[in-house]
Amino acid sequence: MEKYTELLHQIEEKYKKLDQDPEAYLKGLLHAKPIDYWDYIEVESLLSLQKPRTDFPDEMVFIMYHQVTELLLNMMTHEMKQICNSEILTASFFIEKLGRINRYIQMLANSFDVMRLGMNPEQYNQFRFTLTPASGFQCASFRFSEIYATDIENLLDARIKFNLPEKYDMEFLFENIYWQAAGKDPKTGKKSVTLQHFEEKYLTRFIELANTHKHKNIWQRYNAMPEVEKNNPELIQAMKDLDIEFNIKWPIVHLNAANAYLLSKDTVTEATGGSDWQKYLHPKYQRRVFFPAIWSKEELENWATEY
Ligand code: HEM
Repeated sequence: MEKYTELLHQIEEKYKKLDQDPEAYLKGLLHAKPIDYWDYIEVESLLSLQKPRTDFPDEMVFIMYHQVTELLLNMMTHEMKQICNSEILTASFFIEKLGRINRYIQMLANSFDVMRLGMNPEQYNQFRFTLTPASGFQCASFRFSEIYATDIENLLDARIKFNLPEKYDMEFLFENIYWQAAGKDPKTGKKSVTLQHFEEKYLTRFIELANTHKHKNIWQRYNAMPEVEKNNPELIQAMKDLDIEFNIKWPIVHLNAANAYLLSKDTVTEATGGSDWQKYLHPKYQRRVFFPAIWSKEELENWATEY
């Protein structure tokens, strides 16, 4: 029993500080059932979240891979938040966190072929009608990752990015963010239902998060580092890798999947979100770059042109 004395003392201290009776907690421990894998991981809840809207078997693939993506994007933002909120401004801390973030986005970019090759196009082109006007475009986790990564100014539509008015607020930035191009009629400015629903649900949260992270997104935290840390080549490479994976490689594999299902010899099928998707989804059209200042002028001019 002696070997537990210190532990028992710590438990006693812990609960006394909370004004609680330590004995009650120890008795609880005596009777509590050991936890099992399925309860800890919530396997049954997790596997009850797939609810196809049709009887086409491949709709399951579509739903599950979107869910896998949501989980991995949330693993990314889990690391991103730690960079944003940390006081540790060392290259080694950033490299460790960015390494994790990059491995997650690489998992997504490297696995996207399970979408491109995983579904029967005939099945996809029937069950997708039941999804209208929903679109992966409405994936907020994707946009949260961007807000944690960089200044919203870097996410603007290329047409306004270099012609910003002297004064503007966060509402203005979100009205001109790159993704508006997928849902706004360029002539009338009218927003598609897909975009309207997306903004009704998330815009306030996006703006709030962007405001609270104006000075503490990854780019801002990098800039706050001492010069010697900032110049660490491994850190610069890790930041470039994030830009390449998130802003070029994932968009390209995603576009390849869209091509596989929505493009045939002479027809371009309209997507559920209704965008001019062939143009919009190409990274050389969007030219999203989280950390433009670490790239050369030439690299920025040729962004994603080799794809
Ligand atoms: C067969 C598979 C897929 C097809 C054909 C497809 C097609 C499209 C299309 C055409 C768009 C443009 C918006 C629209 O008009 O709807 C879009 C946007 C988007 N999709 Fe997919 N998608 C597929 C799978 C996925 C998956 C698995 C995800 C993971 C969550 C995803 C996430 C997104 C995101 C984040 C956008 C917005 C991209 C941006 O704004 O640059 N898509 N998708």
